[in-house]
Parts: sequence; C-alpha cells; structure tokens
Amino acid sequence: MKKPVKVAITGAAGQIAYSLIFRVASGSLLGPDQPVILQLLEVPVPEVLEKLKGTVMEVDDCAFPLVHSIEIHSDPMSGFEGTDYALLVGARPRGPGMERKDLLTANGGIFGPQGKALAAKASKDVRALVVGNPANTNALIAATAAAKGGLDPKQIHAMVRLDHNRAVSQLATKTGVHGNDIEKVIIWGNHSSTQYPDISHTTVGGKAAKSLVDQAWVEKDFIPTVQQRGAAIIKARGLSSAASAASAAVDHVRDWALGSNGKWVSMGVPSDGSYGIKPGIVYGYPCICKNGQYEIVQGLSVDEFSRARMTVTENELREERAAIEDLLA
Ligand code: NAI
Repeated sequence: MKKPVKVAITGAAGQIAYSLIFRVASGSLLGPDQPVILQLLEVPVPEVLEKLKGTVMEVDDCAFPLVHSIEIHSDPMSGFEGTDYALLVGARPRGPGMERKDLLTANGGIFGPQGKALAAKASKDVRALVVGNPANTNALIAATAAAKGGLDPKQIHAMVRLDHNRAVSQLATKTGVHGNDIEKVIIWGNHSSTQYPDISHTTVGGKAAKSLVDQAWVEKDFIPTVQQRGAAIIKARGLSSAASAASAAVDHVRDWALGSNGKWVSMGVPSDGSYGIKPGIVYGYPCICKNGQYEIVQGLSVDEFSRARMTVTENELREERAAIEDLLA
C-alpha cells in the first residue's frame, strides 16, 4: 500500500462536502490504490461541528479501504498540517442586502488566512482548488496570501470545471453523441454568468463542432444555458448544485494530480498574459495537465466574437479585484 496523502476539505459540514468527502474516500480523486487522511475543516460553531461528526460517523460506516484516518479541525493552521491537496469549499454566502464588495471582503477574511495557513503548514507541493464563491477572486486572495509565505500562486486554482462539464453535456445532447466524444471545450474567465463557454476549437467525434451546430444555437441557447445553469438548478431543486459541483472538483484535482492524458480541461489559474489577459486575476483557461503540473494551451486563434466575450468576463474579474485590492497589499 502507498503512503497515505492528506486531503483537506473545508466547508465539510456543507452540502457539496456531503458528496465530495465520500468521492475522495472511495478513491475517485487519487486512484484506487492511494490511501488518504481526511482533514475536515468547519467553522468553530458547536452545532456545525456536531453535524460534521455525523458525516464522519457515516464515513466510518462505509468502511472505505482507502481511508487511513479522519481529522476534524476548525482552524486552518492545524487543519492544513502537511496537506497535499486542499479543496476549499467553505465560503461566506451572500446575505440579505449584502453588496458584492461586502461579499468579496467577507470571503477575503476566509481565504486570506487559509492561503497563509497553506503556506505555513501544508506540504510545499500542495495543490489547492477553490470551489467556494466567488471562486476566482477567492483563489486570487488565497494565492496572494500563500505567495507571501513562499508558495507559487500556480498552486492555487479556482474551479470552472463544473461549467466545462455542463458545456460538454449540453453539446453532447445537441449533437446526439456521448460526452466522451467531445474534446477541446473551453470555459474562459470567471465562474459566474459572464463566463464564456467556447466551442470554436471543439471537436465532436473528431469533427469540428462548429460544422455540426449553427451559430444561432451557440449564441441564443448554448452559451446562456451554460452561463445560467447554476440558477436553473436552484430553481428546480430548491438548492444549489452540490453533487455535480463535488464531481467537478474531483475531476479538476484528479486531472491536475494524475494528468489529463492530453485532453484539454478548463481551469481557473493565474493569468500570465496568455491570450492578452494580463496578470493579476485568476482566469478560466484551457489547460493540459502532466506530471502534476498544468500548462495553458497556447496558440489558439481568437475571433472577434470570442474576444468580445473574453473581455467581458476579464473586466468583471478586474472589477472584483479592484473591490478587494486592499486585501492583496
Ligand atoms: P453550504 O452552505 O451547504 O456549506 C458551506 C459550509 O462551509 C458551511 O457548513 C459553513 O459552515 C462552511 N464554512 C464557512 N466558512 C468556513 C471556513 N472559514 N472554514 C471552514 N468551513 C467554512 O454550501 P455548499 O452548497 O456546500 O457550497 C459551498 C460553496 O461552493 C458556496 O460558496 C457555493 O456558492 C460554491 N459553489 C461553487 C461552485 C463552482 O462551480 N465553483 C458550484 C457550486 C457551488
């Protein structure tokens, strides 16, 4: 048996974690021969920690062969001790009458200290994925704090994989194929309704997607459906996406850790000037992962239609950054 690796999950008593913990414990994240130590983090509120204990009892009851041990923490400085992979799910939701700036600042109070704790306590090779919204700017805050403690900002990503998976599913349904036959879908930008799901380079069973669907469908149906899917789930379910979000988090970290086998996956990563998106934000890009590293796919053509949409979502991220600039200083 391999040496266990430590996987930290914040927001561990929440609804996404209620799916995520069991997927990680069963081996979906790191493979069927990789034991895990689960570091579960929650807020220091007795009722919440009690609820989390109930979840841990259920994990125990699954008798998962790969679970080495389970820890409960309410302080990231203890919870991220030796962490190899961190899934940062817990976040402050928008309260009644809360302005966007207040929401961003409140989350800065969570993700700044978590970034600092990752740098201070986690493995030097830690890989962290921010799921909690607003995910891209929370990741920027965490990465900036972590960089002050010596981590590379590239070690902290934001999740746009749920949007990527939603785009694959919509296109598969439209073209009557299985999602496995679809490659090179891209989610550019923010995990928000300004994101740009792009099928300019996508293939369906090896054929250009653009030759199989008309542009009117892309503009009037596909793009808005993917952008608004989170709201549609809330309307139908009365609750926000949870199992699909957990599944996307597993997909993102598994591909990052074990490789994407040449496939493009959408990841929120620090902008580095690629495709004209200047540094300073965490932006959704097409990536290929190999040997535990990601690389942004380079050299793609960007037409006017795409450029306009990439700029809208970039501008939103720059505005989010401006609202919390003081937290980055
Ligand atoms: P939830 O409200 O069910 O659970 C969140 C949990 O986080 C709560 O138990 C809360 O006590 C905990 N928490 C808050 N602050 C914490 C901290 N500082 N440390 C540890 N735990 C903390 O929410 P749910 O449905 O699990 O969603 C979690 C987040 O994921 C939300 O921000 C949601 O908007 C976001 N999300 C992101 C998606 C994406 O694609 N990036 C998709 C779906 C949801």
